[in-house]
Amino acid sequence: MSGGMLYGGDEIGALVFDPGHHSLRVGYAQEDTPKAEIPAVVGVAPDETIKLEPEVKPEESNVSSTPQNKYYIDTTFLHTPRPNMELHSYMKDGMIENWDMFEKILDYSYDKIIQSESQYHPVLFSESPWNHRQKREQLTEIMFEKYKVPAFFLVKNAALAAFANGRATALVIDSGATHTSAVPVLDGYVISNALVKSPLGGDYLILRAREMLEQIGIDLTPSALIASKDVVRDKDKPKFTKKKLSFQPSNSWMTYMVKKTVQDFQQSVLQVSESPYDERIVSNIPSVHYEFPTGYHQDFSSERFKLAEGLFDHAMLGAGYIAATSAGMCDVDIRPALYSSVVLTGGNSLVQGFSERLNRDLSLRTPSSARLKMIAANGTVERRFGAWVGGSILASIGTFQQMWMSMQEYQESGKSQIDRKCP
Ligand SMILES: Nc1ncnc2c1ncn2[C@@H]1O[C@H](COP(=O)(O)OP(=O)(O)OP(=O)(O)O)[C@@H](O)[C@H]1O
Ligand SMILES: [Mg+2]
Repeated sequence: MSGGMLYGGDEIGALVFDPGHHSLRVGYAQEDTPKAEIPAVVGVAPDETIKLEPEVKPEESNVSSTPQNKYYIDTTFLHTPRPNMELHSYMKDGMIENWDMFEKILDYSYDKIIQSESQYHPVLFSESPWNHRQKREQLTEIMFEKYKVPAFFLVKNAALAAFANGRATALVIDSGATHTSAVPVLDGYVISNALVKSPLGGDYLILRAREMLEQIGIDLTPSALIASKDVVRDKDKPKFTKKKLSFQPSNSWMTYMVKKTVQDFQQSVLQVSESPYDERIVSNIPSVHYEFPTGYHQDFSSERFKLAEGLFDHAMLGAGYIAATSAGMCDVDIRPALYSSVVLTGGNSLVQGFSERLNRDLSLRTPSSARLKMIAANGTVERRFGAWVGGSILASIGTFQQMWMSMQEYQESGKSQIDRKCP
């Protein structure tokens, strides 16, 4: 394939990948939502099928004598218990860490989701605002060398989320699974030395919720291990039978499945109170009834707010604090533009009451003259997939087509060219 504009225009669909700790979002540019959201874990188990061919001696085959592994990807496969299947995450600190595992996910994306060959599609990847140069170059190399993509581009996820909300300049508050970050974006570029992040995100809430539920003695057996259950009364001991397995699922699988169980509780029950947690105020708010996979069910009232308060009550790590700190680190001239475009994105920002509380906490920390405006997409899809949607829009606009790093440029200048093309 020659360089030129062969990949430009819309005769060949560009793809957008948005990796996170919770999931990888993947789909076609120009579409409203990703084709798939793939959990960001890979199940690895020894391949039992190899044992079925005893007549092939290891030295006669290409199969080395080390045991071969089989990989399990996506919800259905992950949620099925299997002997010796361990679950691994390939992300660390918002960045891709385990490239072999990540390639398994990419292979799966092309085979099963996109169902087309990688050499035909330009690829736009989102990246964490603090991604390392070495990691950016490694991804570039993998995409051109292994997947033979005709063109490639990398954009900071915060810039894409701003873009998805119609802003080139914004203070982007992204609350995901492993962290919440405040990232100033100016004319489409991240101001790196003013980004502030905290480790308080969805995983933290799930951890706290799990501790609380275990403490009050609630059985968190995941539905994947439950064969049947009976209807019981409110707060009565659950009556259920477990599936009969001939093996013990691995600890990593159990931990993941319990996390999914608590995640559903978190999403259905937790709520951030409008002002700092006050037992007397929240006890007047109607409680929420919740049923666990075992069939056990009860009302939750003040604990709903107490748990969610953890996202805001930390002196230095609360979402309002990091937002104000980040804006405060930017040049005083651009602060008004940031305050008037506070973009809220990330799945964890969907915890009920999150945006109202952030608005309150941030306004207490901004000059009274500042015009504070919070921009949060109403739809859950737009909110959770903000960066992906921004990538989808960017990769399909006409003037962007000359921005791609082409295969020809890669061949001529190498992977370090990405740092010039995508600063
Ligand atoms: N409707 C909802 N209500 C509450 N929390 C939600 C909701 N939907 C998703 N979440 C939470 O959002 C988190 C995932 O958010 P997101 O998809 O933005 O993370 P990510 O980008 O994959 O992870 P990270 O930013 O840590 O790399 C999970 O903790 C999930 O439980
Ligand atoms: Mg994220």
